[in-house]
Amino acid sequence: VIDIRKLYGATGKFTYDPGFMSTAACNSSITYIDGDKGELLYRGYPIEQLAVNCDFLETCYLLLNGELPNQAQKDEFVATVTKHTMVHEQMQFFFRGFRRDAHPMAVLVGTVGALSSFYHDSLDISDKHHRDVSAIRLIAKLPTLVAMAYKYSIGQPFVYPRNDLSYSANFMRMMFSNPCEDYKVNDVLVRALDRILILHADHEQNASTSTVRLAGSSGANPFACIAAGIACLWGPAHGGANEAALQMLEDIQKQGGVERIGEFIAKVKDKNSGVKLMGFGHRVYKNYDPRAKLMRETCYEVLNELGLHDDPLFKLAMALEKIALEDEYFVSRKLYPNVDFYSGIVQRALGIPVSLFTGIFAMARTVGWIAQWNEMISDPEQKIGRPRQLFVGSPTREVPPMSKRG
Ligand code: ACO
Repeated sequence: VIDIRKLYGATGKFTYDPGFMSTAACNSSITYIDGDKGELLYRGYPIEQLAVNCDFLETCYLLLNGELPNQAQKDEFVATVTKHTMVHEQMQFFFRGFRRDAHPMAVLVGTVGALSSFYHDSLDISDKHHRDVSAIRLIAKLPTLVAMAYKYSIGQPFVYPRNDLSYSANFMRMMFSNPCEDYKVNDVLVRALDRILILHADHEQNASTSTVRLAGSSGANPFACIAAGIACLWGPAHGGANEAALQMLEDIQKQGGVERIGEFIAKVKDKNSGVKLMGFGHRVYKNYDPRAKLMRETCYEVLNELGLHDDPLFKLAMALEKIALEDEYFVSRKLYPNVDFYSGIVQRALGIPVSLFTGIFAMARTVGWIAQWNEMISDPEQKIGRPRQLFVGSPTREVPPMSKRG
């Protein structure tokens, strides 16, 4: 805590906390993380139990409403989400305005933001009913938009949603069907995608969620807020890490695989190299990220189902993990695998292109963002977010005439 009056003549005491390492910006009852124990709870339920016993839409219901649904509540929720999976036909013109080689995250920031121009009722955020409908619209339409971004990038026609399929099966079909061949649903792969979505659904006040809350604190509409969250998620230190982790594994593999791990680790430990072990380390977890364990199991199940037991990247990742976890550098800094270490391998096996990994993350995290946004709007203590600064620039001075400027 700095007494700012002594420094700048301003009033009051401020905390100077770059990166918000120890500043709580809100009360929340949605997600709890114990980083030292490696524990993650959604509304009190351990992620390990949710990942095994629930599907993604049940998890969405839980995050939004605070309790798991009973069968009737689940049926109604699934039917409501399913009813909203279509996007306005006009949306396709937004896609057609992008270059085909645009990064899907650039396309998502634009198209999710553009939803605000279609649903004017959602702009009235003072009405709880409108807020709830916005949440449903976002959860329902994100898979459609992500699949459209993919189809556009590869020059194939858009595939419309099919409402007799589950959330994840419908997404896989919109991704992988084409006019010549309909996608055949594989339950193991669909379940794996569902698990990826559950594991990424919320993670308390991470950078993108804080962005959504900050944007929302001004009263901005939910589509604009989620577009802001997507923009933040795109960064390589956040949602882009799964893409970077897979790239790293592929590079090591190209250079000789397991044999070259020692050399790679030495480079990571050399602070001048600028190389990080991607998919390792976390601001909050100072123990094994529980999601990484579940993702490693999922990886195993998917590769088995596809007959890829000997996948060289999976073997390389496991060897790299083992060596890093025995190395003093990682042990002393409490650096463990995070969720992104194995998620890239699973997604690649599902047929999802690397450039879409962060888009899948955005699709999963939308429910967390909107639940946190709704919690903030409903909080009577909610204020516009307005961080302060320690000003370190020039004191007051006179504007010199042009002839006197150096
Ligand atoms: N590889 C090598 N060294 C690392 C790594 C890593 N992945 N992560 C942290 N360190 C080192 C830092 O260099 C620092 O070392 P020092 O004490 O000698 O200076 C020490 O460990 C502490 O790291 P910080 O940067 O202070 O940790 P911070 O909490 O700020 O960063 C972060 C967390 C950004 C996730 C970091 O660990 C990282 O960049 N990891 C790789 C990227 C990644 O996997 N991101 C995904 C995060 S999970 C998610 O978004 C879903």
